[in-house]
Amino acid sequence: MTHMTEQTPVTTQTAKAVPTLPDAQTVTEVKHYTDRLFSFRVTRPASLRFRSGEFVMIGLMGDPDPKTGKQKPLLRAYSIASPSWDEELEFYSIKVQDGPLTSKLQHIKPGDDLILRPKPVGTLVHDALLPGKRLWFFATGTGFAPFASLLREPQTYEDYDEIIITHTCREVGELTYGRDLIAGLQTDELLNEVIGDGFWKKIKYYPTTTREESPKMGRITDLMRSGEAFTDLGVPVLSPETDRAMICGNLAFNLELKEMLEGYGLVEGANSNPQHYVVEKAFLD
Ligand SMILES: Cc1cc2nc3c(=O)[nH]c(=O)nc-3n(C[C@H](O)[C@H](O)[C@H](O)COP(=O)(O)OP(=O)(O)OC[C@H]3O[C@@H](n4cnc5c(N)ncnc54)[C@H](O)[C@@H]3O)c2cc1C
Ligand SMILES: NC(=O)c1ccc[n+]([C@@H]2O[C@H](COP(=O)([O-])OP(=O)(O)OC[C@H]3O[C@@H](n4cnc5c(N)ncnc54)[C@H](OP(=O)(O)O)[C@@H]3O)[C@@H](O)[C@H]2O)c1
Repeated sequence: MTHMTEQTPVTTQTAKAVPTLPDAQTVTEVKHYTDRLFSFRVTRPASLRFRSGEFVMIGLMGDPDPKTGKQKPLLRAYSIASPSWDEELEFYSIKVQDGPLTSKLQHIKPGDDLILRPKPVGTLVHDALLPGKRLWFFATGTGFAPFASLLREPQTYEDYDEIIITHTCREVGELTYGRDLIAGLQTDELLNEVIGDGFWKKIKYYPTTTREESPKMGRITDLMRSGEAFTDLGVPVLSPETDRAMICGNLAFNLELKEMLEGYGLVEGANSNPQHYVVEKAFLD
């Protein structure tokens, strides 16, 4: 018979360290917006340097292989939504109910670990654009994530007189993360001190919805074609002399907008060849 107080001897097996995740970072905060969207913050590896707008691979360990029992990391590309100076990293995520990663990732809680490969890359960076007067950020859905980083990046306001952010989503609730973030800039003491009091007045925010009633309905592409977006914003049509743009949305959106910008005379740039606009997919499809 074993008494409750009796100590079990520590065997080599029980003493063995629990294997930790490779490149593990700890979740510090999770916020849910809709049944399809959430954001979370994680610790930042001390050695990680990145440019605002870049993405990294993050994930969890996959299910054990039925034959070998071995687990492999299940990783996906994610834009870093926090700016390069932030001591933590923020991500803004979809929840795909049968998605290999996000069916699990949507259940993470503060204190949990996830895998973060510290190799940032991407084209939505200031270095890929020539100097200009007005910077446009065009997003659909979670394509807002890189702009959440760039909207908190001092260089954005140092380099441009005006920043226009358009965000097209199906439903009103899908705008919440972006809307709250932009509203929060007004009262962000650190940013107002570092960039300059009232820096946020350079931002023109243009949220639109396509499948639920909101003050501004329609795809941004259609609103630009009709001229309505330019009238609403009080700015002229984009021109290569003054305007620079970054695009992040679904593939069809990216292609359509790319064609429109080319029509205005803008040329696509890259890290190695800065030009007038850059594009990145918000997800693969
Ligand atoms: C460069 C790059 C950056 C990315 N950044 C982000 C990010 O910041 N936040 C984010 O949530 N996702 C981002 N993604 C998508 C991400 O890599 C995964 O696809 C997503 O996390 C879903 O993973 P999953 O394994 O659950 O499903 P997957 O098997 O990867 O995807 C299943 C399906 O879900 C849909 N889907 C996937 N991602 C999205 C999305 N973001 N929005 C709407 N539908 C989607 C697509 O139809 C896809 O075929 C990015 C992708 C790329 C290529
Ligand atoms: N959002 C939801 O409530 C919802 C729910 C269940 C499943 N899903 C699935 O999840 C996936 C992604 O959905 P999502 O809503 O995140 O992203 P999405 O389908 O990429 O749509 C996001 C926004 O982009 C707009 N858009 C799409 N193509 C465009 C184009 N060529 N030019 C301009 N705007 C364009 C959409 O308008 P339109 O509405 O006009 O297309 C919508 O407002 C889809 O496969 C979808 O079937 C979505």
